[in-house]
Amino acid sequence: MKYLKFKNGDQIPSLGLGTWKSKPGEVYDAVREAIKIGYTHFDCAHVYGNETEIGQAFTDAIQAGEIKREEMFVTSKLWNNRHKTDQIKPAIELTLKNLQLEYLDLYLIHWPVVIADEVNYPSNANEMVSLKEVPLEETWRGMVELQKAGLAKHIGVSNFSPSKIDLVYKDSGVMPEMNQVESHLFLQQPKLKSYCDEHQILFTAYSPLGSSDRPANRISDNEPKLFENETIKSIAEEKGVSPAQIMLAWAVNRKSVVIPKSVNPGRLKQNLEAADIDLNDDQMKRLTNLNLDYRYIQGDFWCPEGSDYTLESLWG
Ligand code: A2P
Repeated sequence: MKYLKFKNGDQIPSLGLGTWKSKPGEVYDAVREAIKIGYTHFDCAHVYGNETEIGQAFTDAIQAGEIKREEMFVTSKLWNNRHKTDQIKPAIELTLKNLQLEYLDLYLIHWPVVIADEVNYPSNANEMVSLKEVPLEETWRGMVELQKAGLAKHIGVSNFSPSKIDLVYKDSGVMPEMNQVESHLFLQQPKLKSYCDEHQILFTAYSPLGSSDRPANRISDNEPKLFENETIKSIAEEKGVSPAQIMLAWAVNRKSVVIPKSVNPGRLKQNLEAADIDLNDDQMKRLTNLNLDYRYIQGDFWCPEGSDYTLESLWG
């Protein structure tokens, strides 16, 4: 396993287990299997609706002597309906209770978007809350307090553009330590990656395999398919590994963290092994040439008509 370093020297394993879309009934076994074969990094979020099962798997694995808490790196995320000052600490406390942990290694603001308290996913503009009412600066200040209180060792953001990171940094003087965003060979995000590198913000790639198991209403007709790409397939053949392993190895070789989701024992194993595959300069160059700036997770569900969110304001 390769590792990346936070500013204070703490390390994060370059590859972790993604748990978005892992159903409560299958995630327990997936996490137990992952721990048995050597995963130590787990990416979770309250909104995934499976933290209770994941917490049980952590506890059972620790009790079985398969892993120690201090060997684990656990991330979770603050959901969009808990952005107000007095909601942030109760939100992490609930996640910690569900995960059966005393602290998180990393806690992220999940999206730069606010929704009404009782809503999980908005169906209309009335369920959105303007950032003028609950600014990101307020939420970030709350995150800083959590870190000071020791509830999260590291804090960061997800789906944030440089201008939004600048905003929270200027207000608080505290830079997010991580930005977790969609990234894969068709959405390489070179500018965002350079911005993060310059500011010593670590970069995590979500949906590194294209998340083809995402909800059907989030799949567009004619979207490009990573698994059908000839360059990826031919480099996989050259190396004697699978196309998915090439996608993950590319991410690790460009020094990002990557969090592929799987609930299948064979794929869990090959994904973990991908972190140790080195690609040469020529292979990296051929893969870098595949960028299409194509987003699978477009974010349009945060921009119902009549709200003051637009795709430009979301990503810009
Ligand atoms: P499964 O959980 O059955 O293994 P992403 O990480 O981009 O969200 O992609 C997750 C999707 O990719 C899931 O459908 C997952 O299915 C599948 N997947 C995970 N690992 C591999 C792999 N090594 N090869 C092919 N598909 C994979």
